[in-house]
Amino acid sequence: MQAKSAGSFKNKRGYPLLFLEKLNIQQVRCDVLTIFPEIINAYLNESILKRAQEKKILDVKVVNIRDFASGRHKAVDDSPFGGGAGMVFKPEPIFRAMDALKEDGVPRRVVLLSPQGKPFDQSMAEDFSREEKRFVFICGRYEGIDERVNISIVDEEVSIGDYVITGGELAALVVIDAATRLIPGALGDKNSIEDESFSWKMLDYPHYTRPSEFRGLKVPQVLLSGNHNEIWLWRRKEALRKTLKARPDLMEKIELAGEDKKLISEIFSEEID
Ligand code: ADE
Repeated sequence: MQAKSAGSFKNKRGYPLLFLEKLNIQQVRCDVLTIFPEIINAYLNESILKRAQEKKILDVKVVNIRDFASGRHKAVDDSPFGGGAGMVFKPEPIFRAMDALKEDGVPRRVVLLSPQGKPFDQSMAEDFSREEKRFVFICGRYEGIDERVNISIVDEEVSIGDYVITGGELAALVVIDAATRLIPGALGDKNSIEDESFSWKMLDYPHYTRPSEFRGLKVPQVLLSGNHNEIWLWRRKEALRKTLKARPDLMEKIELAGEDKKLISEIFSEEID
């Protein structure tokens, strides 16, 4: 099922719910250009992103680039000029798909997912969640996309990490997911954004649930104490411990809270013992 735009929602009698567009609902609005729409739709139709679309916090239109390819075989790739291994994504279908999107005159920020892009992080997710324009995410495949797409259409390239995956679909979903979670109301009352990893700009603290003892492993006593101040300090300390161990590079960017220096020196003495 394809995601609907706010304007395409109808009431029981089939009248369009135009008032939704007039309500100032913060929304991530995007078009995803891909040759594998099923990959995008499968993820969009589950869990938080599904609910976000129902709540109109997220509006996604999935466009199959192959619909804009010509010829009997609807080919979207061809061999590279200059020789070499692999295939290159042809420019024409992407240009045509973009021409079709532009017909409505809505301004769009065009993002190409590629390993050559700017590294995606939480602050970029915040930026995407606040953007007023619609986004277009172009999902690359093969060895790369014809550079003329980059020169004429793309505003920015974004990478989800220093590794190569088979196509941009997973990367587009990562960006959409991370941005949508930041919109008020996306997570529901139970999971607040403030409690998330990276709201502290460091790794998350460990989580536990019932039973309080499992196969001889006990939940830290402090979490059962009901003392919110002690629990906050324990969580902060364990988040610092995980960050110091796994991502010491993040420590430079963290704004240390008053208690942090004491907690860090405690961690160092505990780890040395
Ligand atoms: N496509 C292939 N690898 C990618 C990456 N690391 N980030 C974004 N898109 C990609």
